[in-house]
Amino acid sequence: MNVQASQSDFILQVEHLSMKFGGLVAIGDLSFQARRGEITALIGPNGAGKTTVFNCITGFYKPTEGMITLNKRDGSTYLLERLPNHEIPARANVARTFQNIRLFSGMTLLENLLVAQHNKLMKASGYTFLGLFGFPSYRQASAESIELARHWLEKADLVDRADDPAGDLPYGAQRRLEIARAMCTGPELLCLDEPAAGLNPRESAALNELLMDIKNSTSILLIEHDMSVVMQISDHVVVLEYGRKISDGNPQSVRTDPRVIAAYLGVDDEEVETVLTEVGDEDVIEQLDTGPDSAHGPGNSASMMAGPVSDTVEHADEGERVTVSKGASKAAQVDARAASVASKPAPAAKPAAKSSTAKAPKRTAAKAPAAKADSTSKGKQAAAKPASGKRGGRK
Ligand SMILES: Nc1ncnc2c1ncn2[C@@H]1O[C@H](COP(=O)(O)OP(=O)(O)OP(=O)(O)O)[C@@H](O)[C@H]1O
Ligand SMILES: [Mg+2]
Repeated sequence: MNVQASQSDFILQVEHLSMKFGGLVAIGDLSFQARRGEITALIGPNGAGKTTVFNCITGFYKPTEGMITLNKRDGSTYLLERLPNHEIPARANVARTFQNIRLFSGMTLLENLLVAQHNKLMKASGYTFLGLFGFPSYRQASAESIELARHWLEKADLVDRADDPAGDLPYGAQRRLEIARAMCTGPELLCLDEPAAGLNPRESAALNELLMDIKNSTSILLIEHDMSVVMQISDHVVVLEYGRKISDGNPQSVRTDPRVIAAYLGVDDEEVETVLTEVGDEDVIEQLDTGPDSAHGPGNSASMMAGPVSDTVEHADEGERVTVSKGASKAAQVDARAASVASKPAPAAKPAAKSSTAKAPKRTAAKAPAAKADSTSKGKQAAAKPASGKRGGRK
């Protein structure tokens, strides 16, 4: 196999990424790749570390360990963890949106998109006041910027409101405007942090359409809780739980991965099967009985998990030790259970599955219908969210 050729297929390669905040391991030894021209979704329960991954990619945080490689179309390669953060959008052409909308609400839509092209305009004015005197290069750059802004306003279906203040737009339209603004910087990789949060189904559909259009020219890394968006438009899904990768594959394989279901539903391992029976997914029930699915998941769980979930995590700088309950990771519980079934009647496997010291609270009857409602897109979202109630509210 030609290694060079296969490398250039990937716009982003994240290798052994770790990010620690004091004693808290927000990301632990995470590796994944995003293909050029695809939508790669990063999903996981609240606090799984998704935004932290974005912050490492876009230079807001410098990772504790690991390598983040961006391969541009022209063949140039950037190690993002080493680039000064202001150079990540300018040189590596990575753009992002934030979990909470960050528009200039008093400026018009057009002005918001022109501000995004500030670098280009400053360069054309020679970093002086030449623009004020209508210097030709500035006039040309200015006309091109307005044209690009108009192009993205049209794509986002906002051109009619170009002169309105951004703050007057409905929520879904503000989300699309943020994406249009990011696109005005000419990114090769667009990182979107929960763009569908708070959107109604009609706005979600408009967003899907916009993202499918963008995908033709720009690779997308997408954090999203709305499964109707993730399953419809993603080519590849990476699932995190407690900062570790628990699944990686196409939407269909990830959707039926017992680890992912357990991580999202947040139930005790003894109860996973009951919940799956309620959901009615016989394939998954069968997998739980026979062990992990080697077709999309790891043949051996340790190779899929970024590393085994340990009892304690040591913080290198201060020798600080933070206890992480083995019972905390639902995905790990599914793995332990599968291992226990596979090794029966070997007695050693059983205690390993039972070694959870901190058991998650029992599921209440009120949560079961959420799993049942999984067949509707709203239901999918609802099914994805019980974990948030269990593990702290959304930010
Ligand atoms: N600057 C920080 N300082 C300390 N802890 C942080 C910091 N940023 C994130 N964390 C912690 O890292 C963990 C992962 O947070 P992160 O925001 O990445 O999760 P997330 O997957 O984006 O969650 P959500 O779905 O709720 O947005 C959380 O425990 C969070 O409290
Ligand atoms: Mg987040």
